[in-house]
Amino acid sequence: MTDLLSPLSLRDREIENRIAVSPMCQYSCDRDGVAKEWHRVHLGSRAVGGAGIVLTEATAVSARGRITPHDLGIWTDEQARSLKPIAEFVREQGSVPGIQLAHAGHKASKRRPWEGNDPLSPDEGGWETLSPSPEAYPYEEGPEIREMDSEDVEEVVGAFRSAAERSLSAGFEIAEVHAAHGYLLHEFLSPVTNRREDEYGGSFENRTRLVREVTEAVRDVWPDDRPVFVRISGTDWLEGVEESWTIEQSVRLSEALADLGADLIDVSSGGLHPDQQPPEGPNGQIPLAEAVREGSDAAVGAVGGITEPEQADALVRNGRADLVLVGREFLRDPYFGLRAAGALRGEGASEEWPVQYRRGVR
Ligand code: FNR
Repeated sequence: MTDLLSPLSLRDREIENRIAVSPMCQYSCDRDGVAKEWHRVHLGSRAVGGAGIVLTEATAVSARGRITPHDLGIWTDEQARSLKPIAEFVREQGSVPGIQLAHAGHKASKRRPWEGNDPLSPDEGGWETLSPSPEAYPYEEGPEIREMDSEDVEEVVGAFRSAAERSLSAGFEIAEVHAAHGYLLHEFLSPVTNRREDEYGGSFENRTRLVREVTEAVRDVWPDDRPVFVRISGTDWLEGVEESWTIEQSVRLSEALADLGADLIDVSSGGLHPDQQPPEGPNGQIPLAEAVREGSDAAVGAVGGITEPEQADALVRNGRADLVLVGREFLRDPYFGLRAAGALRGEGASEEWPVQYRRGVR
């Protein structure tokens, strides 16, 4: 029976187990998008800690696409070079290095969470952000926004393509397109934030066009033997409130993305609108992953509130997900992967630990 510790084959990659470090922004660059020792230690420790896949934080495909000035970036060669030793170290630990490629859209130009998360004013270094339809911006305050014209759209697709090329040169083996959490690609998907009347707005076909074009562009430069993931918000959690992005549309989109060569759909949710009504408690968004798994041919990643090895194992055993992404529990415990192996395998699991650490493992 397939369980959490079973290998996962995607394209030519065999991933050691079904545990991934979910992308988590560290906001720790010096305003230049270049990775620092923090990123190496942070990502490296979690590879040592037994994750089958280590995904970087949302890594901006352009300067304008950063959430804060301190985000990691991949729009210059220097940024790619800074990530190379990190990808290499992750691989040396037996983990597969992946990079999440992102554009923050209208959620850009902010202060860091620990500095209040507010929009940056221009004299603080704030910048003009991009959006499908500025009039639909669902927050009262925000940075300056520009409605994207067709040139901007083309530029964004090109930025994702170049970012994928640079990610490849940095040694990443998985590219994840970030199309969730109210950032640019999700803003195009949802009728809440997309009021366009051109070929990128209106019908399902039109609203999904940019995500499909970006996925195609990334797939085009990403080698056939390496997987592409797409993270989506399975729903806006606004059903009954207004016309929004729903799980039915997510299933349809996932099917289309799988046809374009996406190997895994990483199903998160929400993040678009302050009135969202997500369910409480662990496993709250797991039914979304399950629905995508049932309704499309792509492999599926589940994320959100997963903190226990047995809980993660049950998701895979019961066929609810092919991969489990763990966020905050990996912040609390970088060795969550090894702990899960110990809890699920029992005796002998110390074999999983790095030789350097085995004297510390019972
Ligand atoms: C996140 N999350 C997130 N998601 C994403 O797609 N890209 C990102 O860069 C980030 N950044 C980020 C930073 C921090 C500090 C946290 C806690 C979260 C969301 C994250 O990947 C995950 O989906 C959620 O945290 C839910 O999973 P957990 O934490 O319940 O396992």
